Amino acid sequence: MHIAFARLALPKSGALVLLGFEGQPLSAQGASLDKALGGALTRAVKATRFAGKSGQIAEVLAPGQGAFERIVLIGAGAGDKFDAVPARKLGGQLYAKLASCGATQLSVLVETPDGVPEDAVAANLAQGIALRAYRFDRYHTKRTDDDRPTLEKATILTGALAGARKLYAHLSAVQDGVFFTRDLVSEPANILYPAEFARRCKALSELGVTVEVLGLAQLKKLKMGALLGVSQGSARDPQVVVLQWKGGAPKQKPVAFVGKGVTFDSGGISIKPAGGMHEMKWDMGGAGTVAGLFKTLAVRKAKVNAVGVLGIVENMPDGNAQRPGDVVTSMSGQTIEILNTDAEGRLVLADAVWYTQQRFKPRAIIDLATLTGAIIVALGHEMAGLFSDDDKLCDALIAAGKREGELVWRFPLSDAYDRKINSPVADVANIGPAGQAGSVLAAQFIKRFTNGVPWAHLDVAGMVWSNENSALAARGGTGYGVALLDRLVADTFEK
Ligand code: BES
Ligand code: MN
Ligand code: ZN
Repeated sequence: MHIAFARLALPKSGALVLLGFEGQPLSAQGASLDKALGGALTRAVKATRFAGKSGQIAEVLAPGQGAFERIVLIGAGAGDKFDAVPARKLGGQLYAKLASCGATQLSVLVETPDGVPEDAVAANLAQGIALRAYRFDRYHTKRTDDDRPTLEKATILTGALAGARKLYAHLSAVQDGVFFTRDLVSEPANILYPAEFARRCKALSELGVTVEVLGLAQLKKLKMGALLGVSQGSARDPQVVVLQWKGGAPKQKPVAFVGKGVTFDSGGISIKPAGGMHEMKWDMGGAGTVAGLFKTLAVRKAKVNAVGVLGIVENMPDGNAQRPGDVVTSMSGQTIEILNTDAEGRLVLADAVWYTQQRFKPRAIIDLATLTGAIIVALGHEMAGLFSDDDKLCDALIAAGKREGELVWRFPLSDAYDRKINSPVADVANIGPAGQAGSVLAAQFIKRFTNGVPWAHLDVAGMVWSNENSALAARGGTGYGVALLDRLVADTFEK
């Protein structure tokens, strides 16, 4: 999707979109266009009961003597509640509505009521169009042009041109990251196995990211027994990818992001049921999000030092696979009793988080993982679970989530929960009592490997993939979390 911005002026032809607000369904430009068209828009407003309410659409096809193919009025709702997040969603809605309408180009007239920041609305509307237009189409060989969307270009016409362009430069960097994440998350596991994931991360070095890949031999040397235990039943070697973006002052301690990158989670010997198992190709979504974040930080040249550590493994059951009852020794030295080989993400994170704090002494560690089915039971697909002892870090994440429309909800941690993962035979067990606070116990497990560094864990199991089209993404990988973390960096760590 090609996005352009231009000065506010009424086009004379083509496909045109006008925003309508409650109380003012026709904007100033809309009203003058209406006049030129002999009242065609007023009649359409009446005929469709269009009142500018959020989600409403009125469409006028080839009106009057003019050269317009279509004029679309789209409702933005009440002006006083309209800002970046709803504007983005409106852009997505607009794209979904008009993608296959026949037009290749679209002009969107942005005029906002007093008090609504027009630059932010224009930029975010563009962002919504671009995000919704993403498609992962690599494996369709029989699609014809008729199956493809017609829309190729959207021009946003605004009176706040300079501001909109400036904001969009940042948003476009976020988009680059989101698309990178979606590409990774959408790939099937036979294509995206650990070494291939690492190979794709190497491309980030062209943008100035330092990329290191640790292979089997190095991981053994580092004694990452927890991570290696997960991967030992797979024919694919594990990889740990270390990303460094050095955009801050040389002495500034980095903020660290750690991602669970299980390229396929069969459950291992504690094998998952067949129904739905294919979905576990996106069990690398946490790592995919961190990779996307680094693309964004690099493209927009963020003034921050950041490290990303991706623990990338495949969880499979073969004759060499780890068994329930096995005891492994993690890099930290703590021993872990494996009671369920399907609770593998926390094992990968245990070593990845320990390694991160040990090597980088970061200001904070934020880990992302599709860690538990239980978080989907609790929150559905609306919010990610947030787990942390650090109130300031939590507040920053919650605020960033609200600003970007990528919400998080805080859950508790406590010593009482922590005790539930004590093991009679090792330092810690990888699961607690079945059916009890599964997402919290998983977080408590990770906490045992943070070595006291300020840390937050995001359980994104309900967020990285969608089986339905949503406001900003077609079915598939969502790219959730890239905008959230980018906002966290910009508002909290870049200052
Ligand atoms: N990757 C899964 C969690 C998951 C489940 C993500 C469904 C997305 C959708 C994770 O590795 C897992 O299997 N967790 C187990 C933990 C249990 C064995 C304690 C779970 O949630 O059932
Ligand atoms: Mn699992
Ligand atoms: Zn998993």
